[in-house]
Amino acid sequence: MTDQTTIPGKLDNIEGCVFDAYGTLFDVNAAAAACAADIGADWEKLAGIWRLKQLQYTWLRSLMGQHRDFWSVTGDALDFALESLNMKDPGLRERLMDLYSTLSAYPEVKEVLQALKDQGKKTAILSNGSPDMLRSAVENAGIAELLDGVFSIEELGIYKPHPSVYELPVKAFGLPKERMSFQSSNGWDAHAAKAFGYKVVWINRFGQAAEKIPATPDIMIDSLHPLPDIVG
Ligand code: LAC
Repeated sequence: MTDQTTIPGKLDNIEGCVFDAYGTLFDVNAAAAACAADIGADWEKLAGIWRLKQLQYTWLRSLMGQHRDFWSVTGDALDFALESLNMKDPGLRERLMDLYSTLSAYPEVKEVLQALKDQGKKTAILSNGSPDMLRSAVENAGIAELLDGVFSIEELGIYKPHPSVYELPVKAFGLPKERMSFQSSNGWDAHAAKAFGYKVVWINRFGQAAEKIPATPDIMIDSLHPLPDIVG
């Protein structure tokens, strides 16, 4: 798909490609962006606090042994964000949550998945998202037929980055983990997947600094575009 000279590296012998969902395939800022006119200048700030709190609550709940599904956690995080910014429009919460269930996919997602299928790769999502949320996002993006699996942490009741989560696609596909590439835009998720044993491509869409936690992703790119050439 891209000229060989632009490929930042190659991963050999890859038979399956596993994708994080939120921020990697689906645009987590799309809901707040769609309400920008109502929210005003602080819409990006709201989106940022919402996402950060959503992730923090997954980690906190996992450590506390107090699991609730990702839809509930997403709502709790939104309540925190709205309260922090003193936003009191009662309809706004409902609109934002509705939009979150049909977040748009990044523009290159469909063609990249198609190219991987054309290469004969297994493809899957591995996400914190609850099964209903993932079904709705996948259908909305029109990518259901391009995925061999959609794995939710909900069957384990613990969030990423618990190692048991990364085991789900490995078990389901019966492929060695070093023959699978894991793609995430979340640096911490990319590091954790590498620590587990996947080959990892960090999709650094937001130009973030490298995380200072164990394991280093194999390759970093800023969109999914080069992926079929990296694993092809
Ligand atoms: C997910 C979050 C981490 O989809 O983006 O699992």
